Amino acid sequence: AHQWQGIIAEYRDRLPEHVSERIVTLGEGGTPLVEAPALSARTGAQVFVKVEGMNPTGSFKDRGMTAAISAAAGRGARAVVCASTGNTSASAAAYAVRAGMTCAVLVPDGKIAMGKLSQAIAHGARLLQVDGNFDDCLVAARKLADSYPVELVNSVNPDRIEGQKTGAFEIVDALGDAPDIHALPVGNAGNITAYWKGFREYAGQGAPGHAGEGLPAVATHVPQMWGFQAAGAAPIVAGHPITEPETIATAIRIGNPASWELAETARDDSGGVIESVTDEQILAAHRILSSEVGVFVEPASAAGVAGILSRAERGLVPAGSRIVVTVTGHGLKDPQWALRTLDGSEVTPTRVSADVVSIADALGLD
Ligand code: F0G
Repeated sequence: AHQWQGIIAEYRDRLPEHVSERIVTLGEGGTPLVEAPALSARTGAQVFVKVEGMNPTGSFKDRGMTAAISAAAGRGARAVVCASTGNTSASAAAYAVRAGMTCAVLVPDGKIAMGKLSQAIAHGARLLQVDGNFDDCLVAARKLADSYPVELVNSVNPDRIEGQKTGAFEIVDALGDAPDIHALPVGNAGNITAYWKGFREYAGQGAPGHAGEGLPAVATHVPQMWGFQAAGAAPIVAGHPITEPETIATAIRIGNPASWELAETARDDSGGVIESVTDEQILAAHRILSSEVGVFVEPASAAGVAGILSRAERGLVPAGSRIVVTVTGHGLKDPQWALRTLDGSEVTPTRVSADVVSIADALGLD
């Protein structure tokens, strides 16, 4: 049986050579593409979810981080920095450990989920809680990397995009061709940029000079790209930066995405859309994913599912189309949302004594 080697080894011939000089990997990628009949029934399409929470640190960031940290290691870098709403910092911290590098992370004070904070600390990152939001953290991280001997590993680093494009390759490899529609959450807009690059390259439509140019096309077409922002943090939908973004989906609480124009290119060139979904829609989709599909995600990850459900309600999902929704991060990152009902009341487990009769009774068994 084939043992998955991580995305650089698996897709070496379609990635820039410099990321393979010193590969730093935790075996990322190779994540499940799971059919979701509950979502197909609700949309009239054939829906799959790409479960990126199954990566080593629990989010899609690991695909980009193996590439960025490998490239940095190849250049002899000793230290990296990132701004993060949590997942990037968890991933950077873990890959930095493997590379023997120092990792500094800048996170918005009080606005990152506990699981992610724990990961960055567990992996020994120099974690600084910044008095500001993600956008402020990213400005500071970029300046730090410009003036000091540390490399920036946010998705403005092109190696991050190269690594993350492999998610598109895996989807096509699993389905035998590109889906009709690919849906995902949009925050800093690196991932929609990366998927679009991957789908284009696999269909033989990559920009001149891309890694893997000249290799045979694998897909016959590219999908429409459907991106979804949280309503309180939807600058691309609004057409202007949001100075005080707000959403319970803290991973995508971003008001001025770094890859804004590239996200618009993905949307426009694919004939897709970028829309917003409310926190209520996100939590409802989060609940459907866990209670009907069997996949537990963090709230931001449910934005893509919320988006296709919202479009289905408006009659905007083509019947019978094949849709892949990338669900970006694991539910255990931010588990508190499972412990309350949609109307906000707390869910508390039933207590019983340790005898079979009271247990059967509590379960309603006769
Ligand atoms: N989903 C999750 C779980 C994320 O953590 C992020 C981004 C996104 C979606 C959006 O992806 O930024 O490429 O558009 N998290 C970043 C971080 C900002 O710092 O972890 P994007």
